[in-house]
Amino acid sequence: MVSKTKPDMSTLKIVLRRCGTLAMEDDKIQFMRWRAIPTMLVLAMIGSTRAICPAACRCENDVLRTSCASASLEIVPIQLNPELHELDLSNNKIVHIHFSFPFYEKLVNLNLSHNRIKTLGNANFNSQTNLTRLDLSSNQIENLTKDSLKGLKALTHLDLSNNSLEEINSASFRELHSLSVLKLCGNRLVHLEGGLFRTSKHLKELHLNDNQFLDVPTAALSDTIHLKYLYLSRNLILSIEDGDWPHLPELHTLFLDSNVLTDIHPDGLSTLVALDHLDLSDNNLTAMPTMPLAKLSSLTNLKLSGNFISSIPPVAFRGLFHLRILKIDRLETLRQIDARAFVDNINLEKVHMDYNVGIEKLPTRLFYGNPKVKYISVRYNSLQTLEAIHFPVDHLQELRVGGNPLICNCSLGWLWQLIQEYKYKLLKLNGTAHMNGKKTRNTSELTLDMSDISCVGPEELSGELLVDATKNQMDCSVGWMAAVSVTVTVIFILLVIGGVIYWAPKRRSRSNKNDLEIDDSLRRTVPSPPRSRKTEPYDPGQVEKYIIPPPIMIHNDYRSLPSWDPYGTSSMNVYEQLNDNRDRPHIVYV
Ligand SMILES: *[C@@H]1O[C@H](CO)[C@@H](O)[C@H](O)[C@H]1NC(C)=O
Ligand SMILES: *[C@@H]1O[C@H](CO)[C@@H](O)[C@H](O)[C@H]1NC(C)=O
Repeated sequence: MVSKTKPDMSTLKIVLRRCGTLAMEDDKIQFMRWRAIPTMLVLAMIGSTRAICPAACRCENDVLRTSCASASLEIVPIQLNPELHELDLSNNKIVHIHFSFPFYEKLVNLNLSHNRIKTLGNANFNSQTNLTRLDLSSNQIENLTKDSLKGLKALTHLDLSNNSLEEINSASFRELHSLSVLKLCGNRLVHLEGGLFRTSKHLKELHLNDNQFLDVPTAALSDTIHLKYLYLSRNLILSIEDGDWPHLPELHTLFLDSNVLTDIHPDGLSTLVALDHLDLSDNNLTAMPTMPLAKLSSLTNLKLSGNFISSIPPVAFRGLFHLRILKIDRLETLRQIDARAFVDNINLEKVHMDYNVGIEKLPTRLFYGNPKVKYISVRYNSLQTLEAIHFPVDHLQELRVGGNPLICNCSLGWLWQLIQEYKYKLLKLNGTAHMNGKKTRNTSELTLDMSDISCVGPEELSGELLVDATKNQMDCSVGWMAAVSVTVTVIFILLVIGGVIYWAPKRRSRSNKNDLEIDDSLRRTVPSPPRSRKTEPYDPGQVEKYIIPPPIMIHNDYRSLPSWDPYGTSSMNVYEQLNDNRDRPHIVYV
């Protein structure tokens, strides 16, 4: 447990920022709005009411709004307009709120964020029956008693993020019948009591991220039947067992990233029938959770980045027919992807596979079962080469391959060509943008991360961008044709030499009986004549007749060459004629 509190201290700043972003943005927006109201108007309104507007506050009595944000207040001012609908007391030094709000019964929106409140006391909001939004984020509240929030019957948005809550009484929210959005992120919660949300039937959004939950708060969640968004990121959840999730028929988005999940039971997610968006990034999963995911037939968006998965097996995302976006980045231990990994995901549109540093090769046709795929990113893998057949280039809209250690030989010619086209399009686009004042977009256009596609080899291109390679460096046919013509020439020369060596002595000793031996040795490399068609015994002297290639233009009819029939009487004379040309090399049979 000691090791769990330590990282908390070090990540506290991050947590504060993450959980507090929204509140601060709200402040900014409100501040800007107030600045826009002419000060004259404010002054005129003050004169017409009995309320006092402290110097540090901005009072807009026409819209019943007052801001005392960043006014160094230590207590809640009680002399403001009692009709107020909106009161902003954020960024002050308020420590307690006891008996402060009975004066403002009409409040709809109250902001107490970024103060020093340690406790909410009991029933201090009892008269705020119209309050719909209460922001208590970034204070030092340690617990909620059963009466801390008593009376807030109309409250829809409650922000308790970035406090020091360790405990919430199970009756704390009992009067919050209208609660729709509850933020408890950035606290020290380890569990939630069962029955906490028994009367909050409208809860749609629950932020529990950045706490210390060790498991799914099953008991409390069993009442949140209309929950749509649940944030459980950055907790300490170790596993998901069967029955951990109550039936949440409307849950649409679930964040479970940055926990320490090592295991998900095959039925662990099966009660989340409407789940559309699931984030399991940055956990300790060592195998693809194919079985539990297969139950989530509505899933369109899945994130599994930052786990310890070593291979993506065939049909890894079984049954996810609606999956559109898949993120599998930063799988450091990933070594292998099966060519059929995505075959079930016929609606797949975007695949992110960046920083999978163990991937040196992509299977060909990895995306051939995914006719809708239009975005593929394989940046910063260890790919040395890419083949056009890896990607459905025809219907892709964006291909990102930068940061790989590419060997920019002519095998990447196809990519070079695409990059040149893309570069040309960009130039043209900029040109026409100036001339016509509008950009024309070609739908078949493919976007590439061209400025990151660089080469580690061959030597002359090492460290260069692929876009800067020359056409010659990328042209396979040059090298290929050269290689073929060299080979052909060498073979030809060898044959000539061989022919000369072989035939020269033979001609000299034509009548010699050595003839027979040479012919015998040749016979072995020559197809044996079909003996069944030949009645007389084998005559070695006849071998000569079929070691000679078929005649090219001997026959009277040039276009129809005679069939290869050394025994047919009709072609006998053909071979006799050929005997005069025997010193020509016999390419076919040597
Ligand atoms: C989770 O993975 C991290 C990184 O490898 C490791 O340090 C940690 O011990 C793992 N935790 C558990 C509970 O397996
Ligand atoms: C180009 O380099 C890649 C990677 O080293 C290699 O697999 C491929 O065969 C090479 N292509 C050519 C034409 O040399």
